[in-house]
Amino acid sequence: MQKHTTPSRKQQHVELCVNDDVTFRRKTNGFERYEFIHNALPECNFSDISTVTEFLEYRCSMPLLISCMTGGYPDAERINGDLAEICQTFNIPMGVGSQRQAIENSQYHRSFQIVREKAPSIPLLSNIGAPEVAKMKSSDDICRMIDLIKADAMVIHLNPLQELLQPEGSPNFTGVLSGIEQLVRWLEIPIFVKEVGAGISADVAKRLLSVGVKGIDVAGAGGTSWAGVEILRNTEQETLSHYWDWGIPTAECVSQIKPLKTENNFTLVSSGGIQSAMEIALSLALGADFCASARPMLKALFTGGQNELSAQLNQLQLDLKRIMFLVGAVQIKQLQQVDIISVS
Ligand SMILES: Cc1cc2nc3c(=O)[nH]c(=O)nc-3n(C[C@H](O)[C@H](O)[C@H](O)COP(=O)(O)O)c2cc1C
Repeated sequence: MQKHTTPSRKQQHVELCVNDDVTFRRKTNGFERYEFIHNALPECNFSDISTVTEFLEYRCSMPLLISCMTGGYPDAERINGDLAEICQTFNIPMGVGSQRQAIENSQYHRSFQIVREKAPSIPLLSNIGAPEVAKMKSSDDICRMIDLIKADAMVIHLNPLQELLQPEGSPNFTGVLSGIEQLVRWLEIPIFVKEVGAGISADVAKRLLSVGVKGIDVAGAGGTSWAGVEILRNTEQETLSHYWDWGIPTAECVSQIKPLKTENNFTLVSSGGIQSAMEIALSLALGADFCASARPMLKALFTGGQNELSAQLNQLQLDLKRIMFLVGAVQIKQLQQVDIISVS
């Protein structure tokens, strides 16, 4: 099995995500099982509808962030710079990819620093993997990573499935929860935890909240399959293919975790195959505070550059306003209170 250095692996991930179909094969993210109830008396003016909402105490133009993807290899500086410029223009948050490589050496620090340079006034999210967190002896490395982009929150990704199938993976999750607890004590900024496409259950969310995590991004099944990406990189493709669709669908994660909001103060992010305004609106009505999207944003950038990505974001915002009008929600907070029905 061929093993790659961290920079060449990060580059391969982007190339596979842009050029290959690495979405789930049989499973969906589950939003097709829900519908809004049409409101024939919305009692509002379309021109008053606002998608503005808060994230990490910033006012953002809409409840969507470009999720953690890349950094740490030559071309990542251009990609992160382009994404950051768009996020700044739209006033939406952005996450960087794993900063593990930047802890190892400073060769590609620019690929992370560029993000804060291009986006001085939006919420930015640092990113590190669970295996690194379990090994951490002090907060020094992680504080340097936060400082690289002047991050507003630190995101830890849980990716046991990916580590298991990755030729270079570290499938050792012993001590991850206590590592996260330690980080919560060390850092002044909030800690968010995300999956990468296999979802977070209510039980896992409870354990994360019990150690002081302030944000949970479910990154559920139904969008990018990270098992799929690693299977394509693996020489044992046939024997591993049944893991391609492993995971909890995004809508299921959000509805499982929502009840925890009555007793815990945290931000619930819906992600995993979010591509349409309907999925964003249903996420919020199901209980999410914000949504995130990764591969669809990257594909738009690679297909038609910043113009294409801007056009997609404009369309998402306009469609979100249309849906809000049809359910009589002028503000995002009202959309979060709207009833939905299960259609299956
Ligand atoms: C090219 C690429 C690289 C990614 N790298 C990371 C990473 O370094 N850290 C992380 O937390 N998630 C990473 N992800 C996972 C995404 O943040 C997201 O959770 C996942 O792709 C599901 O969202 P999607 O269906 O919108 O793509 C990456 C995604 C893509 C497409």
